[in-house]
Amino acid sequence: PARIIVLISGTGSTLAALIRAAQAPDSAFEIVGVLADGDAPGLAHARQAAIPTAVVPLRDHPTRADWDRALAAAIAELSGRALPDLVVLAGFMKLVGPAVLSAHPGRIINTHPALLPSFPGAHGVRDALAHGVKITGATVIEVDAGIDTGRILAQRAVEVHEGDTEETLHERIKVVEREMLVDVVSSLAAAPAPQPA
Ligand code: GAR
Repeated sequence: PARIIVLISGTGSTLAALIRAAQAPDSAFEIVGVLADGDAPGLAHARQAAIPTAVVPLRDHPTRADWDRALAAAIAELSGRALPDLVVLAGFMKLVGPAVLSAHPGRIINTHPALLPSFPGAHGVRDALAHGVKITGATVIEVDAGIDTGRILAQRAVEVHEGDTEETLHERIKVVEREMLVDVVSSLAAAPAPQPA
């Protein structure tokens, strides 16, 4: 199976869905490590599944570039003998930098709780709600150097309900988001890795 590394910052419900999918007997991928940028509650899902974890907090590093290099090194160390086939940002709330990007060209994906290119950034659900949209959703993209600007790999719509709060809407988005991300990871895992240019 393809070897994937998952990066998280939060509760990790998306990670939990990936772990469940990876545990299926016919899964095309295995999760070889989970990395967080802090003491993320979601790390518990990885520990419970006996998946190695690492924590690389930004504040432990003098500059963002140092942090980015430490993150790239931690990904390499967690994945062991060979680089991972795929790096999945599953609620990772920081931008990865050039060291991480250049180590995994075209093989980093991110899931976002809005219909990109609308409402990029850290508050996709809140911003969509504040704008008064009637339909929002979730998007899986290939990560590039921008803020949620990469190529769109998959997208699903979710209706905004009368009286929705950021929390209720986000929970409904996450349901379709988790399923979509598992589908994308499974199909990328089944495809051959691109050769470096
Ligand atoms: C997900 O909805 C994900 O799209 C979002 O964080 C949530 C993580 O939930 N990511 C972003 O907003 C990235 N800008 P989880 O911790 O329960 O998996």
